Amino acid sequence: MEKIVPDREKAYALLTEFNKNDGLIKHALSVEAVMRHFAELKGEDSDKWGIIGLLHDLDYEKYPDQHCVKVKEIMEERGWPDDYIHAVVSHGWGICSDVEPEHIMEKILFTIDELTGLVATTALVRPSKSVLDTKAKSVKKKWKDKRFAAGVDRSIITKGAEMIGMELTEVITETIEGMKTVAEEIGLKGNIEEA
Ligand SMILES: [Fe+2]
Ligand SMILES: [Fe+2]
Repeated sequence: MEKIVPDREKAYALLTEFNKNDGLIKHALSVEAVMRHFAELKGEDSDKWGIIGLLHDLDYEKYPDQHCVKVKEIMEERGWPDDYIHAVVSHGWGICSDVEPEHIMEKILFTIDELTGLVATTALVRPSKSVLDTKAKSVKKKWKDKRFAAGVDRSIITKGAEMIGMELTEVITETIEGMKTVAEEIGLKGNIEEA
């Protein structure tokens, strides 16, 4: 199979071919935005990082029991480059895959995937219901409440932050910054009018 040249349009078409669930699409868009933001911070290829973020859970809606396995098949069949596939599969390291994140991009994806969920849930219980005025401090407060967003595995985020050598507060702050760029698309603009 001939390899394709990835671009955002192809990635979005693939995402929406396999995903119809609004929540999952919003999650993909959130992770894409945060990956783009981190790529910019690191002076890396924001399109590549964003596309990988967009596709990371591609197989989850249709094949929840084969998450991180089926996606490899699908992307190989469609001719996606190996480094894209490796990155996508490694996001589930220790959860649904034994492929360890190696590249800094992969380590960041591993770290921020679950965190976007905690940020979103935190934003939604605030008076503004908006990510635009959500601060790391509020997220950290909710972090400690184990019943809050109980599905979010905090230990993965901690492990990821160690892997990338960033303070947790900084990781949370930058994750919020990334999500702000798509606040409207991910349903987290709340009642705040942008300046
Ligand atoms: Fe996943
Ligand atoms: Fe995810």
